[in-house]
Amino acid sequence: MAENNSEEEEKYKAQTIEAVGKWKSKRGSLIMALHEIQGVFGYIPWASARTVADEMGVPLARIYEVLTFYNYFKIEKPGKNIISVCDGTACHLKGSQSVLKAYQDELGIGAGETTPDGLFHLQIVRCLGCCGLSPVSVVNGKTYSRVTPGDVKNIIAEWRAKETENNAESK
Ligand code: FES
Repeated sequence: MAENNSEEEEKYKAQTIEAVGKWKSKRGSLIMALHEIQGVFGYIPWASARTVADEMGVPLARIYEVLTFYNYFKIEKPGKNIISVCDGTACHLKGSQSVLKAYQDELGIGAGETTPDGLFHLQIVRCLGCCGLSPVSVVNGKTYSRVTPGDVKNIIAEWRAKETENNAESK
């Protein structure tokens, strides 16, 4: 659960602060906040858990307790690129199931699975809070609005290209 890259930690921290913003002032909303964070990252990074503790004034031990009690929460990074397909009511009504199928066909995996090369993890999430843009997909925190099954190929290609770029840069 530890990230040793401080740049990555900062990124988690900033996105977590943004994600928990709307839950901060609501009592008893820890689970909803964690749910939202998992929607963004595909799991709960340790840096995020620490940020939630600070932002919401909840002891870290309590957060750990929640994360380990509910099977739903993942504390390990499930794959390099996390694709979250929203299947909340608004997105469902606007065709999220056919979008999900397009991802499954394109990647050859089911929801909740990671491609054998570890590059993509596909997950279903409930309402990402931007229903006006439905159906919505989020990849590594980037939101795609009004996604059609026909867009999926390009979304995957975009992230594959980023991967190739990153690999070339690190050589
Ligand atoms: S139902 Fe998908 S963003 Fe709200």
